[in-house]
Amino acid sequence: MFRNSRLPSFHLGNPHNQAGRIAFVLGLALCVLFPTSRNQALSAQEAKAQPSTVLAAVDHRHTVSLDGAWHVIVDPYGNGLYDSNGKARSTGFARNLAQTDSTGPIEYNFAKSPTLQVPGDWNTQRESLMFYEGPLWYEKDFEYNKIPGKRVFLHIGAANYRSYLWINGHAICEHEGGFTGFDCEITQALQDGNNFAVIAVDSTRLADGVPTLKTDWWNYGGLTREVSLVEVPDRYIDEFDLHLKRGTRDEIEGWVHVVGAPTGSEIKVTLDKDGQTTGITGKTEADGKAQIHLVDGKLQLWSPEHPVLYRVILTAGEDRLEDEMGFRTIETRGTQILLNGQPIFLKGISVHAEAPYRTGRAFSEQDAETLLGWVHELGGNYVRLAHYPHSERMTRLADRMGILVWSEIPVYWACHFEDPVVLSKAQSQLLEMIRRDRDKASVILWSVANETPATPARTAFLTTLVRDARQLDPSRLVTAALLVRTEGNTKIVDDPLGDALDVLGTNEYIGWYEHTAADADHTQWDIRYQKPLIMSEFGGGAKAGLHGEVSTRWTEEFQANIYEHQFVMLNQIPQLRGMSPWLLMDFRSPLRLLPEIQDFYNRKGLISEDGHKKKAFFVLQKLYKENTIGHAQ
Ligand code: GCU
Repeated sequence: MFRNSRLPSFHLGNPHNQAGRIAFVLGLALCVLFPTSRNQALSAQEAKAQPSTVLAAVDHRHTVSLDGAWHVIVDPYGNGLYDSNGKARSTGFARNLAQTDSTGPIEYNFAKSPTLQVPGDWNTQRESLMFYEGPLWYEKDFEYNKIPGKRVFLHIGAANYRSYLWINGHAICEHEGGFTGFDCEITQALQDGNNFAVIAVDSTRLADGVPTLKTDWWNYGGLTREVSLVEVPDRYIDEFDLHLKRGTRDEIEGWVHVVGAPTGSEIKVTLDKDGQTTGITGKTEADGKAQIHLVDGKLQLWSPEHPVLYRVILTAGEDRLEDEMGFRTIETRGTQILLNGQPIFLKGISVHAEAPYRTGRAFSEQDAETLLGWVHELGGNYVRLAHYPHSERMTRLADRMGILVWSEIPVYWACHFEDPVVLSKAQSQLLEMIRRDRDKASVILWSVANETPATPARTAFLTTLVRDARQLDPSRLVTAALLVRTEGNTKIVDDPLGDALDVLGTNEYIGWYEHTAADADHTQWDIRYQKPLIMSEFGGGAKAGLHGEVSTRWTEEFQANIYEHQFVMLNQIPQLRGMSPWLLMDFRSPLRLLPEIQDFYNRKGLISEDGHKKKAFFVLQKLYKENTIGHAQ
């Protein structure tokens, strides 16, 4: 019952294959057919796990936080669900059993097990877990009293990599994807008073995962973002899309979707800015969507210079959802990127979700303020959130600070592009990324991939994702970070995926992985598409505090010299419309092993993980503050 990966991987079964489906249903059924004494058995049809969803603006809904200490059991052999023959056991961890006379030996006890903090990866919370990849079980008791007319979801901001949820021993849902939030309805499984949640998270890397087995970042496992209960009325707004219509400065278009409302139900959208309100009503159609078209002659547009946010109040029957949104347009015209109809140059930096100072997976407001504070200090107006969706706190703060965002799903390096299961996983993560952040004015680019080989299977795979992104969100631009061919001192951008993209992203490492830094001065660029180009990665490594000759690798001087020569080249690329050097801060990676220099850290950061700014930070800062780079038009 274990997948054929290098580590025995725990799973309820991969619903994508028959054997997995049997394991999955058997595993769930046993968790229901033998409910704990504290529960009423649910009827059979509730035994099936339901698909998760993504509730819009969940961070603006009334929630009951379940963050804090959770009891945990490390379970490398998947023993919490399977017996020695690989059969789902009836006394599995999901039931949170206590030893009684009538049961056989119960060889686990959450209440006496140690705890970990949620949110937070497990790797940096316990030294013995730094390299752990596999299943780990979380359990938390909580009080709840059901409210008539309310439906309750359990919200998980992110769980890396696969997760399985039970409430009071009843199987609820499972999810795959380590960086996108999801919501599972638990209304039926709740009882008044004492309840308990059990969440199994399995961080095993999968050959058919998204990402696949090898990445240049640490596989931080666990409940890495917030967990909470979300209450909604029986009829509730689960998603909406409101955006400024391209070519206008005062027309907001889109739709609001209501669950459980009959056709013709009224919804209302109100914009409020300092007490000045405008509003409009609509009626739901058979698909539950009410189309919206609101004209506001006084609309103040969002931009990096003026990140104006409105209170947006959506009402539908009993449901009232409030959000905070900016309105702007983003489009291309030839090789230009236009924000609110004006050409813009994206002065940015790439960022991994590595927590400054404490390290580990970033999730907190403090992490976001530190990281984006450094971007602002750099003089940047843009950030590439690599290589996966970051916490919603980052995109909310980017909205407030006026920092434009490239947001990306982890279709990274050698994914299995010929496997339809992998495509469906990537499509799910793309959908979840867009559903969570389509209300963020700061997000202007959806990226479908990073550095993938230009094979026919990969180009078909990614072209499908580009199509999906456009269908889900026609108001933004779609891009990807591409590998670039080199012939002599010429970089050739002719990746066939370029046909499908709105904006080309290209990665190059002249002076680090190839050639010398000075070679950049006379490197030509042969770009076969008349589209905007963003230099989505360049740079080199340096150990903070290590100084020496410009020619000595790993010194701050060596790294700064790469940047100096890159700028000479970049200013010679007429259709360059942005840049996000690699990267803001050093980050943990299993690929970076050089003792006394890397020690499991990728050192291409402009800042070390303990906040030391290297020389290259100030070189880039000078360029951005003096605006001596790039041409918006
Ligand atoms: C690649 C890749 C990054 C990686 C970087 C590096 O371009 O996109 O994820 O960390 O190069 O080699 O440091």
